[in-house]
Amino acid sequence: MTPEITPTDATLGATVRNVRLDAIDDETFAAVEAAWHAYAVLMFPDQHLTEEAQVAFSERFGPLERSLTKTHTQGDPAIIHLSNVKKDGTLWGADSDTGRLLHGNNFWHTDSSFKRIPAKGSALSAKIVPKTGGETAFADMRAAFDALEPAMRDWLADKTAVHSYAYSQSKVGGMGGITEDEWDSLPPVEQPVIRTHPATGRRNLYIGRHASHIVGEDQEESRRLLERLCADACRPPRIFVHKWREGDLVLWDNRCVLHRGLGHPPDQPRRMVRTTIAGDAGDANEWVA
Ligand code: OGA
Ligand code: MN
Repeated sequence: MTPEITPTDATLGATVRNVRLDAIDDETFAAVEAAWHAYAVLMFPDQHLTEEAQVAFSERFGPLERSLTKTHTQGDPAIIHLSNVKKDGTLWGADSDTGRLLHGNNFWHTDSSFKRIPAKGSALSAKIVPKTGGETAFADMRAAFDALEPAMRDWLADKTAVHSYAYSQSKVGGMGGITEDEWDSLPPVEQPVIRTHPATGRRNLYIGRHASHIVGEDQEESRRLLERLCADACRPPRIFVHKWREGDLVLWDNRCVLHRGLGHPPDQPRRMVRTTIAGDAGDANEWVA
């Protein structure tokens, strides 16, 4: 089976067909991994993986993150349920802790940038897709880096930003569902604003909603700069929108891609399953001990 790879019109993203992720041999995996490095986001239609098969496929890229919060996990902490559907089939409203957590995903971000060692990748699969909306958008931070003015590129080269989950959630009404201990395990961390991808050697912007401000700069001014960088970065031709169908799995590279949900009417169910590939310390450039 040779994977059939169809790039999007944007600077990132490709659809991969003719591959079964629950029965992938080493040669096919190598082709998928190479495509992942080239396109940064891969869409695999019609996979309909079980949670176990999604874990097994994700683990081929490295160990998985365990969710720091209990809010979204049931059983295996490596499986995160992003869902507005309660156990009894009714829906969480926008004004619940779950609703606020899901709403946070609707702003450009990269997963786990608020952890000391942020995520390498995420795999998300669609179990229940709303009739309208619910798409996910992706933005290419490699091309965004390439598009920076040289003076800005040079200025940002040695900057670090403070990333904080408390900061990003405060912008969407906080999150009562997190326990004191869980908050204690999520102190603000510093990440470089420019990263070099360990596999491709390409440099990219590393920003998003968890990035609060730049270390050593005026807090308000650098916050506005980060917001402007994000707005400029997340524009065509560097973005595309994935319209989900049940059974799709999308795999993205958190090291060089931002993503966000586009939201959907609150009276419609949406159920997604995410697995998150942990970053290795070697990915994290020199700021990690
Ligand atoms: C995620 C995420 C957005 C969406 O799974 O990490 O941000 O559209 N998802 O569900
Ligand atoms: Mn996310």
